[in-house]
Amino acid sequence: MFIMTNYLLAPSIIASDFAHIADEVAAVESAGADWIHVDVMDGHFVPDITVGPLFVKSLRRVAKLPLDVHLMISEPEKHIDAFAKVGADNITVHVETCPDLPRIIEKIKSLGCTAGVTLNPATPASAIDSALPLVDLVLVMSVVPGFSGQKFMPEMIAKVEEIRAKLNVLRSHAHLEVDGGINAETLPLMKKAGATVFVTGNGAFKHPQGSGAGVRTLKEIASK
Ligand code: DX5
Ligand code: ZN
Repeated sequence: MFIMTNYLLAPSIIASDFAHIADEVAAVESAGADWIHVDVMDGHFVPDITVGPLFVKSLRRVAKLPLDVHLMISEPEKHIDAFAKVGADNITVHVETCPDLPRIIEKIKSLGCTAGVTLNPATPASAIDSALPLVDLVLVMSVVPGFSGQKFMPEMIAKVEEIRAKLNVLRSHAHLEVDGGINAETLPLMKKAGATVFVTGNGAFKHPQGSGAGVRTLKEIASK
């Protein structure tokens, strides 16, 4: 069985103060974060609107860590070039928005980025079977995409277990990332289920003792 040893923390800037993004990023980077998660939302595939390539271009200038771009947008194939061009390191697309998932995964890789696939809570794990042999990352949503600060959906634990089992059968080295309501209570549950990368918005940027404390706490829990 392929044993994953390193666990990664990816603070989501959706919960940060965009007016001070350089300081916000510096705080989580110096506290030990591994990736910066960028939630891109178009107000169409999901209700909220957040940021686009212009923002990522500025973010790239101040972030040292890999940029983990999560596209919650319709027709992502129209936009992956732009995100790759401004410095995205990983680009994750929703299976619900990609009629030809293998083709878009190959396109993302051809641009020099790692490729991820993600699925909404209501979408069964089987929907991404065709992509599993191809992807560098699978992202399991533990909230309905659209807004930060939502309640963790415990029924997604079983989906993480199911996808972990599929990845192990394939002897895949793909990351299994989880996103939505990840905090000190829910992170251990998702780690036990087989997740290796943990996105957290409020768990980092809205931590009562500041984002540095949030990151340190969750990194410690993830490495236990
Ligand atoms: C959900 C986003 C998540 C979420 C993370 O729409 O994709 O990244 O905002 O924020 P928390 O950790 O606060 O749920
Ligand atoms: Zn996300």
